[in-house]
Amino acid sequence: MMQQSKRTLVTTALPYANGPVHLGHLAGVYLPADIYVRYKRLKGEDVIHIGGSDEHGVPITITAEKEGISPQDVVDRYHRMNLDAFRKCGISFDYYGRTSSPVHHETAKEFFLEIERKGIFRRKTEKQFFDATAGRFLSDRYVTGTCPICGNPEANGDQCEQCGTHLSPMELLNPKSKLSDAIPELRETMHWYFPLGRFQKALEAYVEAHRDDWRPNVVNYTRTWLNQGLTDRAITRDLDWGIELPLSDPEARGKVLYVWFDAVLGYISFTRQWAAQRGDGELWRSYWQDPESRIVHFIGKDNVVFHTLMFPAILMAWNENRQNGIYGLADNVPASEFMNFEGRKFSKSRNYAVYLGEFLEKFPADTLRYSIAMNYPENKDTDFSWTDFQNRTNGELADTLGNFIKRSIDFTNSRFDGVVPHACTDDEWNGLGVNWPETVEKLDQAFEQFHFREAASLGMDIARAANRFLTESEPWKIFRTDREAAARTMALSLNLCHALALALYPVLPDTAARICTMLGFGEPIEAGVRPGVSLFRNLLHPMLHKGHRLAANSGILFTKIEDAAIEPELKKIEQLLAEAEKREAGAAAERTVFKPVISFDDFQKVDLRVATVISAEPVKKASRLLKLQLGVGTETRQVLAGIAEHYQPEALLGRQVVLVANLAERTLRGEVSQGMILAVEDMDGRLLVLEPSGELINGGQVQ
Ligand code: 2FM
Ligand code: ZN
Repeated sequence: MMQQSKRTLVTTALPYANGPVHLGHLAGVYLPADIYVRYKRLKGEDVIHIGGSDEHGVPITITAEKEGISPQDVVDRYHRMNLDAFRKCGISFDYYGRTSSPVHHETAKEFFLEIERKGIFRRKTEKQFFDATAGRFLSDRYVTGTCPICGNPEANGDQCEQCGTHLSPMELLNPKSKLSDAIPELRETMHWYFPLGRFQKALEAYVEAHRDDWRPNVVNYTRTWLNQGLTDRAITRDLDWGIELPLSDPEARGKVLYVWFDAVLGYISFTRQWAAQRGDGELWRSYWQDPESRIVHFIGKDNVVFHTLMFPAILMAWNENRQNGIYGLADNVPASEFMNFEGRKFSKSRNYAVYLGEFLEKFPADTLRYSIAMNYPENKDTDFSWTDFQNRTNGELADTLGNFIKRSIDFTNSRFDGVVPHACTDDEWNGLGVNWPETVEKLDQAFEQFHFREAASLGMDIARAANRFLTESEPWKIFRTDREAAARTMALSLNLCHALALALYPVLPDTAARICTMLGFGEPIEAGVRPGVSLFRNLLHPMLHKGHRLAANSGILFTKIEDAAIEPELKKIEQLLAEAEKREAGAAAERTVFKPVISFDDFQKVDLRVATVISAEPVKKASRLLKLQLGVGTETRQVLAGIAEHYQPEALLGRQVVLVANLAERTLRGEVSQGMILAVEDMDGRLLVLEPSGELINGGQVQ
C-alpha cells in the first residue's frame, strides 16, 4: 500500500474560455483527474478538485475582435458552456472558478507585489512593434508575417502554425499588424521580467527529487529546458484585457500581467473561493501551505514547463525569506500525451474536433468516459474513433458488464424472490478463479499511480470473469436439483455486481449509482463517501448479506449503439477531413499560384546541390530547430532547419538532402544559417526532408 497523505489537492489545467472543450481535452486532463478524485473519495481520503476558466490572454481578445463583441462576452459564453459540458460528463469539481473574478485579480496582484517588493523582477526596456494606426503596442499574437523558416506567409508573431517554429515577431519577414494591416514600427517599451535563471539550482533539485515518481516524459522535457539554461521571461504585456499592474509608475500604465503568470495562480485563488464558499476563509491554507498535503496538477503535455518550472519558481519567489504562509510545490504533474481523433490531431483552428457538449447530447456520459479511459494517452498519443467507441459500448459495456448485472438481478428476482439467498464468505471470491485480494490491490495501485487505462481494464476483466462464472455455473440448470449451489452462485454474483459498482465507480459513476439502486441500496455511493471511511476497502469483502432485498426491477444499463447512430458521425468526419484536405490543398495551391513569375535566368541563379548530413543537433532555446552540418563537395555548411519536431537528430545522419546553396547567410537565435534544405509537408502536417535517391555525387548539382 502506498503511503497516504493527509489531504490531496487536485487541479486541472484551466481551459481558455475561448471555445468549447473537446474530447482531446477531456481525455488528457479532466477525465483522468475526475477518475483520480473519485477514487480518493471512495477511499475516504480528504481530496478536492479545483478547476476553472482561463479568461485572459490574447486568443480571447482576438476572438472578441473577430466577432465584434467584448472579451467579457466571449468568456461569459464559453465559461458557461464548458461548465455545463463538464457537469453533464460527471466531472466533479469542488470549485470551478474564473480568472476574471475579483478574488483572482487580488491574488495575482498580491503575488506580483510580493515579488516586486523583494526586488526579484527585472525591468527591461526593449523595442516592440507598435501599430501607429491603432495607437497600440502589439503583443506577439497581434503581429503576422512570413515565417523565416518555412516561408508560410501567415505565421503568427509567437509561432508559425505551419512548421511549428517558436518565433519572436521581430523574426517575421514582412510583418503586419493584425489590428489594422498597418506595417508596425518599432518603439521602446518597458516590461517586467521574471528571472527564471535565479531559481535554476532550486528547480533542478526539485525536478531531480521527483525523477522517479514523475512520468519520464515530464522529467525529460523539463530537463531539456533546464539543460538549456533558464532565462528571464517577460511577465507583462501591453494589452487592455487582463490583470492590470498594481503600480502607479507611469511605465506600468496600459500593461497587464502575462496570462500564464496569472493563470497558474488561479489554482490558488479558486481554492480560496472554495474555502470562502464553505464558510471557512482559511481552509484553503491547509491544502496549499501544509507540508503534509499533496498537490497534483493534471495537464496536457503542451503545458508542462509552466507547471514544472514557471509556477514552482513563482512560488519559490513568494516563499523566499518567509516564516509563514509558505506554499508547497506540486508533488506530481501527470501530464498526458495527446488523444487524436480518427487518426488526426484535434485542432480548434482547423475546426477538426468533437466537442464535449455536443457529444453528450447524443450519447450517455458513461459510455464516453469508458471509451476515453480505455484510450487514455498516458505515455504515448492514442486515437479515438467512432468505431472503437461503438465496439466498446456494445461489446464491453452492454454485452459484458450490463449483461452480467441484468442476468444476476433478473435470476435472483425470478427464482429467489429478489432476496440474496446465501451468506457469502471471503473465501467464496475464489470461485471466480482469480486471486481476489491481489486483484483489488492491483486496481488500487493502478488508480493511485495514474494508470487509468489499466484501472478501467481491470474493472472490465472482473466483469468478464464474473460473466464467465455465471454462465459456467448454470444456476438456471442446477436450480431444481441443487438449490443450495444455485443460491451460492447467485450470492457471489450479486456481491460481484456490488464489487463492480465500487471498482468502476471512478470511471462510471452514473452506472455505479444505477447498479447500487438495482441492488436495493437506498442511497447512492456518494452518500457513503466521507473522510476516514474507505468504501474501496469494501471491495475486499462480500457486502450483501443473506436476506438483503434487491429493488423490484433490473433495468437496461447500456443501450447498444446501432450502426445507424454512428453513420452520420462517420459522414461528418469524412466531410471534416475532406474540408481540411481541401483547405490544405487550397493553401498549398495558393502559395504556388500566387508567387510571382520568375524568368528562367532567375531560376538558374538558384544553386541547388546534393549535400550529406554530417551532424545534427538541437539548437538552444529553439525547440523546433535542428543545427545541421552538411558536407557539400569540398565544403561544410551549417544550416538551421525547422524540423526538430519531425526528426530525431541521429535519424538524419548520413542522409542526402537538397541544399539551396547560394542563399544569403542569416542568423537565427544567434546561430548562422548558410542555406536551406528542401522539405515538403505531408497530409498530417509533418515535414519530410526531400531525399534524392540513387548513387549521388556529394555536392552534385540538382537541375
Ligand atoms: O493551454 C491552455 O489552455 C491554458 N489556458 C492552460 C492554463 S493552465 C493553468 F495554468 F491555468
Ligand atoms: Zn514556418
